[in-house]
Amino acid sequence: MSQKIQSVKGMNDLLPVEQKDFKLTADFWQAFENQVQKWTQRFGYKQIRTPIVEHTNLFVRSIGEETDVVGKEMYTFNDNAGETSLSLRPEGTASCLRAVVEHDLTYAAPQKLWYMGAMFRAERPQKGRYRQFHQVGIEALGFADPDIDAEIIAMCADLWRELGISGQLTLEINSLGNREERAAHRAALVAYLSQHEAELDDDSKRRLHTNPLRVLDSKNPALQDICNAAPRLLDYLGEASLQHYNTFKSLLDGLQIKYIENPRLVRGLDYYNHTVFEWTTDKLGAQATVCGGGRYDGLMEELGGRATPSIGFAMGIERLLLLVRDYGSLKADFAPDVFVMQQGEGATLAAMKHAQTLRGAGLNVAQFSGSTKLKNQFKRADQSGATFAVIIAENEVAQNTVTIKDLRGERGQTTVAADELVQQLNEWSTQ
Ligand code: HAM
Repeated sequence: MSQKIQSVKGMNDLLPVEQKDFKLTADFWQAFENQVQKWTQRFGYKQIRTPIVEHTNLFVRSIGEETDVVGKEMYTFNDNAGETSLSLRPEGTASCLRAVVEHDLTYAAPQKLWYMGAMFRAERPQKGRYRQFHQVGIEALGFADPDIDAEIIAMCADLWRELGISGQLTLEINSLGNREERAAHRAALVAYLSQHEAELDDDSKRRLHTNPLRVLDSKNPALQDICNAAPRLLDYLGEASLQHYNTFKSLLDGLQIKYIENPRLVRGLDYYNHTVFEWTTDKLGAQATVCGGGRYDGLMEELGGRATPSIGFAMGIERLLLLVRDYGSLKADFAPDVFVMQQGEGATLAAMKHAQTLRGAGLNVAQFSGSTKLKNQFKRADQSGATFAVIIAENEVAQNTVTIKDLRGERGQTTVAADELVQQLNEWSTQ
């Protein structure tokens, strides 16, 4: 026998059944996607789908060369001619903006867009952290005022409520100000951290010169005192930035959305300014952030478009669904209404025709394929989760009848004329 080929580490199959180390099923995932579809429609957002592969330069220019995502985690390869560097997308914002600039989508009006799909980061896999993972993202392009900042937070809160996980998530917010404010703060921060350089760990020493804001994000307990006493970006914000931030907060207050201000929240991608936020949970161990985002007012210009103030977020579907599975209320019920069984001379064709009639009447129908004893077929019917079984054996064929069995309730079994099948099932379904 040939050796089995395994899936790539950190990349999961979604199966009809739960796996030992990955509890999400394809049906559960589908039920979530259905919710997402309705949710985005409810808020008036339009879907966009972009390729999984982009020019590497897109991510370098948008996410930033010094970030972990671009510096260490991208799947990058050369195309056939060896001249063009391509990368699997590690996130969706850059691709979305590339497409918007390329097709000039914001020419006539601002755009509210959403997307869903696979992203790729070569991180060390663990529960809630994968190399192929999936995001649902929202990008609102062409909106400068803080009302959109509050709208997209309210949008998240609406989805959490619907999924039954509001109680498991905490909203953390911060403002990163504008470029000049960040530069002034950065200078003060570098000066402060340099005084403490000997006490920093290797990662933080490296970041001190490449991305000092990220030092504040350090999870190393030994650095917490240093980080807590560091100059705060909020203290460097000018009047306009503060006003944006304060209006955003007062809108959240008015909408009764609870939040925690976290002055050390900086996010791991370089394109952000002003409002940033994360929804975190204490139920998923180290992978606490389920959803994150913020403003990126300068990114569209950076990518060759017109100045277009914008904001967005993305949630990790795996993390979110692990939470929903254990604490939420999402149900994935894709069991058929009817399971059709057949046995004996002429029964296969009759059963296929009856199954088709039932589908035409709007029912979901699974049919037994092959030939085995009715006893075994009943087992399959039960496993399928169907509510009713329809049985076509030689007697039914000879007399042009069908036998219907209630698999879940108390109605037992009855035999009716073949042309009364739909009516009988409808009666049983509505009783
Ligand atoms: P991000 O914080 O890098 O932001 O990713 C968003 C979410 O994706 C995270 O909060 C997490 O739930 C999930 N995620 C990230 N990496 C992994 C992984 N390796 N395995 C499982 N889940 C993961 C962005 O990607 C931005 N594009 C969000 C955004 C949109 N900002 C503005 N618009």
